[in-house]
Amino acid sequence: MIVLDQKNRVFSLHTQNTTYQMKADHNGVLLHTYYGPRVAPCDLSRLIRYVDRGFSPNPSEAGEDRGYSLDTLPQEYSTCGVGDFRLPCVEFEPEDGSRLADLRYAGHELKKGKYSLPGLPAFFGGEEWETLIVHLVDSTCKVSVKLYYGVLESCDLITRAVQVVNGGGQRVRLRRCASLCLDFQRGDLDFITFDGCHALERNLNRSALRPGVQSVESVRGTSSHHHNPFVILCDHSANEDYGLCYGAMLVYSGNFLAAAERTQLENNRLLLGINPYHFCWTLEPGQSFTAPEAALVCSPSGFGRMSRQYHRAIREHLIRDPYAGRRRPVLINNWEATEFHFDAERLVDIARAAAPLDIELFVMDDGWFGSRDTDRSGLGDWSVNEKKLPGGLASLVPRIRELGMSFGLWIEPEMVNEDSTLYREHPDWILGAPNRPFARGRGQLVLDFSRREVRDHVYSAIRQVLGSAEISYVKWDMNRSLTDVWSAALPADRQGELFHRFVLGVYDILEQMRRDFPNILIEGCCGGGGRFDAGMLYYTPQIWCSDNTDAIDRLRIQYGTSFCYPVSAMGAHVSAVPNAQTGRCVSMETRGVVAMAGTFGYEMDLNHTTPEERETIRRQVAFFKEHYGLIQRGDYYRLSDPFRDPVAAWEQVSPDGREALVSIVSGPAHAAVPFRSLRLKGLDPDADYRVNGGEELWPGSVLMEAGWPVPIPTGDYQSAQLYLKAE
Ligand code: GLA
Repeated sequence: MIVLDQKNRVFSLHTQNTTYQMKADHNGVLLHTYYGPRVAPCDLSRLIRYVDRGFSPNPSEAGEDRGYSLDTLPQEYSTCGVGDFRLPCVEFEPEDGSRLADLRYAGHELKKGKYSLPGLPAFFGGEEWETLIVHLVDSTCKVSVKLYYGVLESCDLITRAVQVVNGGGQRVRLRRCASLCLDFQRGDLDFITFDGCHALERNLNRSALRPGVQSVESVRGTSSHHHNPFVILCDHSANEDYGLCYGAMLVYSGNFLAAAERTQLENNRLLLGINPYHFCWTLEPGQSFTAPEAALVCSPSGFGRMSRQYHRAIREHLIRDPYAGRRRPVLINNWEATEFHFDAERLVDIARAAAPLDIELFVMDDGWFGSRDTDRSGLGDWSVNEKKLPGGLASLVPRIRELGMSFGLWIEPEMVNEDSTLYREHPDWILGAPNRPFARGRGQLVLDFSRREVRDHVYSAIRQVLGSAEISYVKWDMNRSLTDVWSAALPADRQGELFHRFVLGVYDILEQMRRDFPNILIEGCCGGGGRFDAGMLYYTPQIWCSDNTDAIDRLRIQYGTSFCYPVSAMGAHVSAVPNAQTGRCVSMETRGVVAMAGTFGYEMDLNHTTPEERETIRRQVAFFKEHYGLIQRGDYYRLSDPFRDPVAAWEQVSPDGREALVSIVSGPAHAAVPFRSLRLKGLDPDADYRVNGGEELWPGSVLMEAGWPVPIPTGDYQSAQLYLKAE
């Protein structure tokens, strides 16, 4: 609910459990007055202190009042160079070369429903949303800034976006434009980020904020394996179930900056948005720029609640899923089994072993096109390699479908190998500055997706492939970071637009693909989880979580990912042992339990499994299908921290609390294992639950307060699943 106090120019955004408030003060400065647990209607600017702090300047309107400084006031969208020395949101450079921005309130609009952002991913929905737009203006440059707020009460979600409009008569360069600024009038907060590298993404890191700026960012052109555009600020004591925490997520897939600054007043400012590194956007008179959306969830009761609110909002208001309301297929992918070395017979062999186990979708990964026999050739040539697949897809796909499976394939549209027809014909279509050697990544170069003719060329080839057979699934991959970011199509003074234009180009093709092939399920991928962000989830309902398929490493990767993103978004497969990335051997049971904390599928040649393993697989597939709704759409509870605790455990609970699935994976075996109980969460304390169809009934209160006795492992990495049903 958005409440306006017109007289005092106070704007309060209430969700079920939180309140967010801002106020345009007597000078027109838009103050941020509060964000936290829901409070009674009240002008919270009374919390603000006006005290003269040395070296904090006063704007001209303040006159003799030295207690009024932009440097100490909590701001809704911070300015630049005019008296606030903390992190700036926005910076304008008009023709005189000044680099300033000073914003004052100029009006507002209130609307039912949710705003949208043309060309950019954004949360969507109907009447359950409300929108507030606050207009600010820099009266010298005549540039206006529209702050968008979307309020989804039931999920405690507040989205924000920013549009900058050049309303003056001269060209203005926009040198930075954050999506979100959040000023806290308190300093005692922890900063949590999700960091890692290729094959070990989204490890949780937590530390108290100390004076100065702490930040994570990407300058790689993608959101990256290394840092995720999702961060948390929280009480020092916050944990899964207690304490105040604030999640901030950017709905964007390119360079980002998430920075938290602890200030001289021991307050904190959080900034999130496109990274100002290599960013400069020219606005001619009348033109506008829209910054990507950010989404906030505040939870007064720990991380678990925050995550569940994000999960629900993402599932219901961000992901556009061709299978919405239906079950997505269990898949088998040939990559880890064959890499580039396959032909039609080998693929059909793999599919033939999977079909009797009720696996439903066969995915042909990299290597099916052009001269793609290694990672050094063929990218860019999107036509079937008939040496490997005689008769092309027209021959292969019906053979797979005859086995009762649907068919999907891998593409990597943004890339090209030098050894390809595309590159030989269009060497100027890549990112790369003239007369300078360029860097290769995985032996490949990046196509300039900011250029329409490049996108059109690539997409028309892909569209032809997708239209040539019955294809139900596409894995959209992207296997290197951007370097040599220079475009032959942009003038020298607009090269600072290229990183963002590249991302817009990717979104443009994904949107076209969704429009042209509405029934195809697209899985995002970027060497695993290098572009695992909310921006991609708007186009690709699931994303391959990591190239690391080792079940034990995956416990940590999926744990970190779960803080923001739902199970239904996390691509997870059972692969062969010894695992290709770690050499570790883990039982088929445990590999299945871990993959079921994601979209679930297999990535191996099942011809090389024992009859017992195949029986296990058949049971896993049947179990997954039976409990699909609970696993993919249930409320998700983390029951342990796999970085610290001896067992990893998590739980999905149906919204009515009548059903739950608990998954437990133990670590390496030790002698003299202590007896452990696992306290479950989210159950009905008054209901009696039958566990795995057993004899005894267990009261919900007992399971939650006293716990369930964890089975004592008799070897490394054992697992158990408990299916609970209330009677
Ligand atoms: C990336 C993906 C893998 C696989 C290969 C194919 O690394 O993450 O799953 O598709 O590319 O080249």
